[in-house]
Amino acid sequence: MAIVKVFLLVLAVLPIVLADTPANCTYDDLVGRWVFKVSAGGGDNTLNCTSPGPVDHMVIVDLKFPDVALDVTYGHEGYWTLIYNQGFEVVLNNKKYFAFSKYVKEGEKYKSMCDETLPGWSHNVVGTDWACYVGTKNQTRNRPRSETLVDPMKQLYKTDYELINNINSAQNSWTAGVYPEYEKMTVEEMLRRRGGRASMMASKPSPAPVTEKVRKLAETLPPSFDWRTINGQNFVSPVRNQGGCGSCYAFGSLAMHEARLRIASNNTKQTVFAPQEVVSCSEYSQGCEGGFPYLIAGKYAEDFGLVEESCSPYVGMDTPCKKTTCKRYYGTDYKYVGGFYGGCNEELMRMELVKNGPITVAFEVYPDFEAYKSGIYHHVFAGDRYGHSFDPFELTNHAVLVVGYGADSTTGEKFWSVKNSWGAGWGEKGYFRIRRGTDECAIESIAVVSFPIFP
Ligand SMILES: *[C@@H]1O[C@H](CO)[C@@H](O)[C@H](O)[C@H]1NC(C)=O
Ligand SMILES: *[C@@H]1O[C@H](CO)[C@@H](O)[C@H](O)[C@H]1NC(C)=O
Ligand SMILES: *[C@@H]1O[C@H](CO)[C@@H](O)[C@H](O)[C@H]1NC(C)=O
Ligand SMILES: *[C@@H]1O[C@H](CO)[C@@H](O)[C@H](O)[C@H]1NC(C)=O
Repeated sequence: MAIVKVFLLVLAVLPIVLADTPANCTYDDLVGRWVFKVSAGGGDNTLNCTSPGPVDHMVIVDLKFPDVALDVTYGHEGYWTLIYNQGFEVVLNNKKYFAFSKYVKEGEKYKSMCDETLPGWSHNVVGTDWACYVGTKNQTRNRPRSETLVDPMKQLYKTDYELINNINSAQNSWTAGVYPEYEKMTVEEMLRRRGGRASMMASKPSPAPVTEKVRKLAETLPPSFDWRTINGQNFVSPVRNQGGCGSCYAFGSLAMHEARLRIASNNTKQTVFAPQEVVSCSEYSQGCEGGFPYLIAGKYAEDFGLVEESCSPYVGMDTPCKKTTCKRYYGTDYKYVGGFYGGCNEELMRMELVKNGPITVAFEVYPDFEAYKSGIYHHVFAGDRYGHSFDPFELTNHAVLVVGYGADSTTGEKFWSVKNSWGAGWGEKGYFRIRRGTDECAIESIAVVSFPIFP
């Protein structure tokens, strides 16, 4: 499974490049016997497979859940993986085959035809000998499904009640619940909200080892700390709502500048910055499809500066960039906590937080996180929606702001206090707590800081 997992992670970047298709195919649709009709090989990666050409040979392959592909003719075993709900890749006899699942447009609706593929690409594992192919499943479907569906990304999100029940019966640290407002959002908006496709990451560094010196310094820090309650003062700007745009990276980045400006000015400069200007104008990020705090809190704030909310009020859509003459606020000295990508750890994060102010972090959002209501979150495996034993889908990289830390007074469970951008009605008044000290969902791996230049 280790090899398979690496493989899945590598493929997870594909939807970013290719954009989503309306296909909605699951394991249940794809498992079974397939016939690949392969055209003559010998091409390179400029090969155009729009119309694959005459069939040169056939490959007959059995796809088994979750990852075994069997060459029926020769009995060789290989791998395959579902790619989100979009298609699948097979690696067999040192050749790779990738195609999107077939779909057709009928009027305004799309029909997913999961027992066929669109023309796809095959080549050997070293990237030569490209050919085109089309796959056809040689079995009737093993379950009925609706024949027409609208673009799945445009469908309304459905609450997964079973997941919520499973989370709540599996543990006591945190509570999951229903957010009725989610059902007013489309699947695409929900995906964007938790990071956006451009924020999916193929791999993350692990936290860096803690040196003796850092350990000693960290021991001198208070056992709990929160920028919302420093001598009765709150240095954190109000919680906002990014809506269905994948702009968390902008909210998480700008919230750090807002808080650090409040800290630097003893709360006299309560500027609120404009994430919309970043969404519309930054070429260091992908608008509503996502981006990364290092490039926004750090590089964009230094190279282009930020504007106030009133200059570019938030609309949560990819709108054209408007040239403005508004005052710009800059930041500098941006870096990953620890100095470089991979240099971060929990002790360094606490030192930075206490010394200089809130820090922007990213973490991996699993579907269970969306149901978070209160408590100290950790990822609870609760089965995926198809009842299978693992769910590689929709892991995204969501940017948020760490404002404090502490430990539960009864259980001692250590946590970070984190500001989200899903509105004040979400979680604990717009905030959540997440397990600390164990790199939960990679939250201790890529913290970013930047320093506002006093305006
Ligand atoms: C591939 O070929 C089709 C026609 O068969 C053409 O319409 C399309 O533009 C070609 N694609 C590229 C990338 O050349
Ligand atoms: C496909 O299915 C048909 C009918 O079930 C069968 O006759 C044929 O041998 C199958 N082809 C392959 C390649 O398995
Ligand atoms: C995709 O298909 C599955 C299984 O049929 C269904 O449960 C799910 O709602 C569909 N998703 C979308 C976005 O249409
Ligand atoms: C900061 O603000 C607080 C509350 O307004 C005030 O009590 C305190 O004296 C100020 N500190 C400085 C250094 O001005």
